[in-house]
Amino acid sequence: MPVTTYFSQRALMRATFVSALLLLPLSCAVPAAPAVSEDTIVGPAPAPPPGQAPPLPKPGPLAEPRASNQVGFPKVLTQYVLSPTSLRPARVALGQKLFFEPRLSGNGTVACATCHDPARAFTDGRPVSIGIHGRVGQRNAPTILNALYNKTQFWDGRVATLEQQAALPITNPFEMGSASVGDAVSRIADDKDYQSQFMQGFGRDVNEQDMLSAIAAYERTLASFDSPFDHFIAGEANAISDSAKRGWELSNTKARCHLCHALTDNQRDPTLFIDNDFHNIGIGIIRHHVVPLAQQAERELAQGHLAAIDTAAITSEMSVLGRFLVTRKQSDIASFKTPGLRNLLVTGPYFHDGSMQTLWDVMDHYNKGDGITDPWLDKDMQPLALSESEIDDVVAFLASLTSPQYKEVGDQEYARQLATSKVNRPQRDTGRAFAPKPKQPPPPPL
Ligand code: HEC
Ligand code: HEC
Repeated sequence: MPVTTYFSQRALMRATFVSALLLLPLSCAVPAAPAVSEDTIVGPAPAPPPGQAPPLPKPGPLAEPRASNQVGFPKVLTQYVLSPTSLRPARVALGQKLFFEPRLSGNGTVACATCHDPARAFTDGRPVSIGIHGRVGQRNAPTILNALYNKTQFWDGRVATLEQQAALPITNPFEMGSASVGDAVSRIADDKDYQSQFMQGFGRDVNEQDMLSAIAAYERTLASFDSPFDHFIAGEANAISDSAKRGWELSNTKARCHLCHALTDNQRDPTLFIDNDFHNIGIGIIRHHVVPLAQQAERELAQGHLAAIDTAAITSEMSVLGRFLVTRKQSDIASFKTPGLRNLLVTGPYFHDGSMQTLWDVMDHYNKGDGITDPWLDKDMQPLALSESEIDDVVAFLASLTSPQYKEVGDQEYARQLATSKVNRPQRDTGRAFAPKPKQPPPPPL
């Protein structure tokens, strides 16, 4: 695995010397422990009426900034990624309000929260997102929880910061469909409440840059830890089941998850389960003719043109090219960013195209090392020869990464997926899981 460490050793040391902990505003934070259940929901989201965007979720307790006293909260890392001014409470409150603001969309029907619903751990419960006028995109909405720690944003990492990220859905024609970010700002600029909140947060009138900063500030308060697994790592031996303990072992050994879902190769990483890197793990590529799409991208998309890449990624079949759209390197064809593994029971369906319904399907995919006909498959993918009980153990480990706010809905979803997996395992191929690694075909000429 190419190790892309989050921060250099020097930066880490510098960060440890910062004495005053700058952390999330505890005063307005949701207490970490109690499970909030009234506004959580389980299972796939219902389809909206044709031609319409899905309903806008209401801001409930789950939309509140998270506390910094969660077990497992990475203090040093968090200090490193947050700037001292970014979490001023006035900015965070403004950002939270903007996150639910449908006037930022072209016809006043879609807000960030439409696709990042706090009750669904800031996802939308759909394979791919549905935006303005009911337009169906190409990609699954990732969670915003812990997005503050991402080195790049989006499945293909096409931007680096949350500020840059927030501008793109506002103008994407399948998401919020505003003519420009300025157009979106103009629809809230006359609002007296916004005028005073911008003044409080930034000392000036409503404007584009501060709007994006406020949204990003709110997102940076959404740190999610304190799961049973975090309690186990902190020393509570009985916080997770024996099965989940075996699953954690397996994920670092035979199941090979740590090769990508960890910041370093040589040390166990119980925190974010990402590597800030991109891999082709064989998702979606089988259903598409990638070579003509790559040729189309070369022809039609000016390299580095962010708005064009964003439109292609969300609205066209070229979406399947993944990181290639950004780098134009053949080795990046159908590569996607390694996502974190927390709160998975609330963020399904899985992968960049939402193509898998249960964590058992995910495990079956990895177990057979899928991607036999995929010339760009990551070299770390291979058949794993995991038994059924080993698969159950890894799923139990993944389930133990559910933060307390989502415990109840997570338990229900675990039961739902388990029941589904008993009757439907579309990805299971035991023969291939126990067979030797097949020879990869060479990449075709582009
Ligand atoms: C119509 C649905 C929709 C709306 C509205 C929407 N998003 Fe998203 N969001 C998505 C999808 C789908 C992706 C993944 C797209 C991709 O990777 O190409 C995404 C990706 C993201 C990411 C990257 C997370 C990661 O792990 O890489 C962040 C952050 C985010 N959205 C925040 C926002 C904010 C802030 C707004 C409002 C300004 C917003 N989104 C509006 C669907 C939506
Ligand atoms: C070669 C690198 C690699 C290995 C090994 C790997 N993953 Fe992944 N994982 C990824 C990437 C990249 C994605 C996103 C791929 C996509 O959507 O196309 C992903 C996606 C996932 C998802 C979907 C998350 C979501 O939000 O949709 C889960 C769950 C997951 N991996 C679990 C595991 C487990 C469990 C293992 C070990 C059995 C494992 N991964 C091994 C790189 C890897």
